[in-house]
Amino acid sequence: MLKDILVFSLSSNIKLTNKVCNLLGIEMSKSVVRHFADGECLATCDCDVRGKKIYIIQSTSKPANDRIMETLIFIDGIKRANCKEITLICPYFGYARQDRIAHQNEPISARMVADLFTNVGVKRVVTVELHTPQIQGFFGVPVDNCSPSYVFGKYFRQRLANDKNVVDNNVAIVAPDHGALYRARDLANFIPNTSIVIIDKRRPKPNVAEITNIVGDIEGKVCIMVDDIIDTGGTILAGAKALHDKGAKEVFICCSHALFNGNALEKFEAADYVTECCVTDTIEHPEFENSKKIKVVSIADMIASVIRSHESHERIKDQYARFH
Ligand code: R5P
Repeated sequence: MLKDILVFSLSSNIKLTNKVCNLLGIEMSKSVVRHFADGECLATCDCDVRGKKIYIIQSTSKPANDRIMETLIFIDGIKRANCKEITLICPYFGYARQDRIAHQNEPISARMVADLFTNVGVKRVVTVELHTPQIQGFFGVPVDNCSPSYVFGKYFRQRLANDKNVVDNNVAIVAPDHGALYRARDLANFIPNTSIVIIDKRRPKPNVAEITNIVGDIEGKVCIMVDDIIDTGGTILAGAKALHDKGAKEVFICCSHALFNGNALEKFEAADYVTECCVTDTIEHPEFENSKKIKVVSIADMIASVIRSHESHERIKDQYARFH
């Protein structure tokens, strides 16, 4: 079934790609990425790609611009070497927050980056939890936007099974802003008997969050906040503190894409009002291995399942195929 496919990692997700290849029972194909003194990069590979179906796993995480160029340059090379088709698996699609004109003269950078990938010749794109689902439409090729709700749901069902604070269905799934409501609903499908709470948040300037109201009952509840991105940690920690201060019994966090810029990790370690923050491995962070607060769950099984389904022309397993 997996004949004539090659799965490559570029520089962002080597560990994840290895896991995916182990699950598929194939060897990871190695790319070579070199940088020149002026900042240019050369991304290529030594193996024969002629006539092969290629899967490239690469998040456009920090350094975002380098990772985008690396991907485009690699694709250009294997296309010229006459590979059969290219699927870009971009677990974290950067620039996604620039998805609309919020202020005069602003670009829609997410669309522009999607155009770059479409125009360089990818046949389809697989990604995880786009910042907004409509970004799928920015690409001129099919996009599978996979949801990590199943993975988080499984984690929290096990984690809360022996939590003494969980009594009488007192678990609430919390959306940290209005935009995250559909994520909270989706996660609730995988954690039975939960209620939904929404935080009313304003953003006076980038990376600054002001909590104005909490809509829903949180007194004595075990709260699970769910967001797509933690960048500086400002938004989610302000929400977690507000939940704690207003009477939540315990606060957990889950988030698909752990950008963790600045001193985000230190802020989480110091936040005694947060029990645990569960993130996925769409972005690699070796430093999380020593953290008691940050738990990493893998999306490798989800990616392997998508590759298998593409190769067998079957539907992606239902638990992952939530297109919102
Ligand atoms: C906002 O719309 C996103 O979903 C995240 O809440 C936001 O990007 C997180 O940023 P930070 O961690 O810097 O507050």
